[in-house]
Amino acid sequence: MKFFIDTADVNEIREAKRLHFLDGVTTNPTLIAKVKKPFWDVVKSILAEVPDKPVSLEVASTDAEGMIKEGEKLAELGKNVVIKIPMTPEGLKAVSYFESKGIKTNVTLIFSPAQALLAMKVGASYISPFVGRLDDISHAGMDLIRQIKQIKDNYNFKSEIIVASVRNPVHVIESAMIGADIATIPYSVIAQLTKHPLTDIGLERFLKDWESVPEKPF
Ligand code: E4P
Repeated sequence: MKFFIDTADVNEIREAKRLHFLDGVTTNPTLIAKVKKPFWDVVKSILAEVPDKPVSLEVASTDAEGMIKEGEKLAELGKNVVIKIPMTPEGLKAVSYFESKGIKTNVTLIFSPAQALLAMKVGASYISPFVGRLDDISHAGMDLIRQIKQIKDNYNFKSEIIVASVRNPVHVIESAMIGADIATIPYSVIAQLTKHPLTDIGLERFLKDWESVPEKPF
């Protein structure tokens, strides 16, 4: 499974790169707003940090024509730019336009298997079902991923499933067990994934015992 980071904060991207398992970046208008810097500065600094991995940048228009104009500008920033488009009928028109031009798209705000099926059918390179936001309203978010995975496998759709709105390590592990292609993970959850209390306790004991080893080599 590929690991994307869900952030517009370039420092978090740098930190994730140091862990050597970063496969891409996803952003959205909320994440960009959090950085409190001009839009073009933010996206250019992200792309400078990740010039060779997919970076999803979201359009803000709601009509296909506007999405296409914005997406074309974003696509000029680099071959690795993926145009993130909301799951609406207008969005699907824009997805089909970009994919026919060889520009990759990521259909976002997917909350049902029907939406995922349509996005895959129009040829989106990536689809982003949001698990955390479904959990928030007492729907089992990971059930949606199971349904989408089965639909994808039934028809051999090429779209990659990005598990989005990831809130905890359990979401990541379940994504891997289901066979999702990608999880896009906030930095805080990436940090949690590396930890286990028994690792800390075990390391502390090893270091303490190491002190009593005679003629240590290092
Ligand atoms: C997906 O690409 C979105 O950026 C993201 O995962 C949304 O997550 P949230 O529900 O935590 O805002």
